[in-house]
Amino acid sequence: MKTNSKKNITVETPLMASLHFFFTFSLLLLFAGNTFAQKADLAKTPPMGWNSWNTFATNINEELVIGVVDSMVSMGFRDVGYNYVVIDDGWMLRERDEEGNLVADPEKFPNGIKHLADYVHSKGMKFGIYNCAGTQTCGGYPGGRGHEYQDARLYASWGVDYLKYDWCYHGNLTSDAAYTTMRDALYATGRPILFSICEWGDTEPWFWAGEVGHAWRISGDIYPCYDCEDRHDDGLPTQWSAWGVMKILNMRNNDTLRRYAHAGAWNDFDMMEVGNGMTPAEDRTHFAMWSLLASPLMLGNDVRKTSKETIALLTNKEIIAVNQDALGIQGFKYLQDKNLEIWAKPLQGGAWALCFLNTGNESEKITFNWNSHTIIDKIFNKEISFAKTPCKIRDLCAKKDVGTTKKPLVATIASHDVLMVTLKPLKK
Ligand code: GLA
Repeated sequence: MKTNSKKNITVETPLMASLHFFFTFSLLLLFAGNTFAQKADLAKTPPMGWNSWNTFATNINEELVIGVVDSMVSMGFRDVGYNYVVIDDGWMLRERDEEGNLVADPEKFPNGIKHLADYVHSKGMKFGIYNCAGTQTCGGYPGGRGHEYQDARLYASWGVDYLKYDWCYHGNLTSDAAYTTMRDALYATGRPILFSICEWGDTEPWFWAGEVGHAWRISGDIYPCYDCEDRHDDGLPTQWSAWGVMKILNMRNNDTLRRYAHAGAWNDFDMMEVGNGMTPAEDRTHFAMWSLLASPLMLGNDVRKTSKETIALLTNKEIIAVNQDALGIQGFKYLQDKNLEIWAKPLQGGAWALCFLNTGNESEKITFNWNSHTIIDKIFNKEISFAKTPCKIRDLCAKKDVGTTKKPLVATIASHDVLMVTLKPLKK
C-alpha cells in the first residue's frame, strides 16, 4: 500500500487490490462453506420430535408445551431420539410491533419464547418454531415475507433450533426463491437452525429443496384416519386437502421422491397421527411406514396423555433404528399382490427392513417363500437374493427373532396391520 504524502491519501496498487479482493472472497467462501457444510450434519438422519399442530392447532401456550416437554422426558421419548419440540401456528400476535418484529402472544406465552426455549434446552432438547413464506401464516398471523432477515435474527436471539416454514398467502412468490431467501437469512445468523419446508409438495420440492432445507412436505395435511381424503361435493380435492395415512403413502411416485432423500434432505410425509384415534393396527402401520420411508418422525399427539401401548410403539427402538439408519435410504414398494403390499428399505451392513402391509378389510394369511425373491433397489444400487444370502429374521413389533429365510414365512396379518421385519445376512 502506498501513501501519497502530499494529500495523505492511501492508494492501493493493483497487486494489493487483487490480494484484498482474494482475501475478502476467501473469507466469504469460508463463511458460506461453513454454514453449508453444517447443513447435512444438522439432519444426518430424519429429524424427530413433537409438533403442536395435529392435536392443538392454534390453541397452544407455555404451560401446555412445558407439560409436553416434561412428558417427553419422563415417558422416554427424548431418550430414544425425539429431541425437537416445535410450536406451530398461533404463537404470535396478529400484528408485528412498530419496529416490524414478531411478538409472541403474551397471554399464551407470558414469559416469552426465549424463556420457553431455555426450558427446552435445560432438558437437553431443541426448540422449534413456525412461520410462513407468505404475507400471513395459514392461521392469519403475520407471515415472514419481506421480514426474513429480521425474523431470522429474532429466532436466533431466542435460541430457536428449528424453523418450519409454510406456504399460505404466497401470492406471486416462486417457492425455491422464497425458501432460499429464508435459508440465507437463517445462515446469516450463524446459528445452526434446521429448516423444514412446508409447501405441501405443490411445486415438487424434491427437485429443488435438497439445497435449501432439511426436509420438505410432500402432501397436504395429514388427518388421523387411515384412508380419508377431503373432497368437495364435486369429488375434487379441496384447496386445503387433508389426507389419511394411506393416501399420503400412495399419492406420489415414491421412486421419483426417494432418489432425492439423503442425509440433510428428507421427504416429509407429515407429522404423525399415532395416538390420535386410529386403531392399534393402523397406528402400527403408520409408524412402521413412516420409519421405512425415512420420513421425519414428529409426534403429533397430546404426549401428556399417551397410553402405555402408544408409548411402547413410538419408543420402539428397533423401528426407530430403521428410520434412523445411517445409509439414509428411503424405502420403496417392492411388490403388491391385491391387498398385500411389501415395502423394503436397504439398511447398513447389507441388512434390509421389510413391511408386509395388509391394506384390506380382512386378515390375510401369507406364505412367503424367500428363496424365490431377489429385491433390487435400482436407484441406490442395492440387491439381495435370499436364495444366495440367507438371513436371520426379526419381528420388530414383537421384538423377537422369528427364524431365517431358509424356510417360508407363514404369518397372519390383521386388517390394516403390518408385519415389520429386519433381515440380517447369516454369517457364513
Ligand atoms: C398448514 C400446514 C400445517 C400447519 C398449518 C398451520 O396447513 O401444512 O402443518 O402448520 O398450516 O396453520
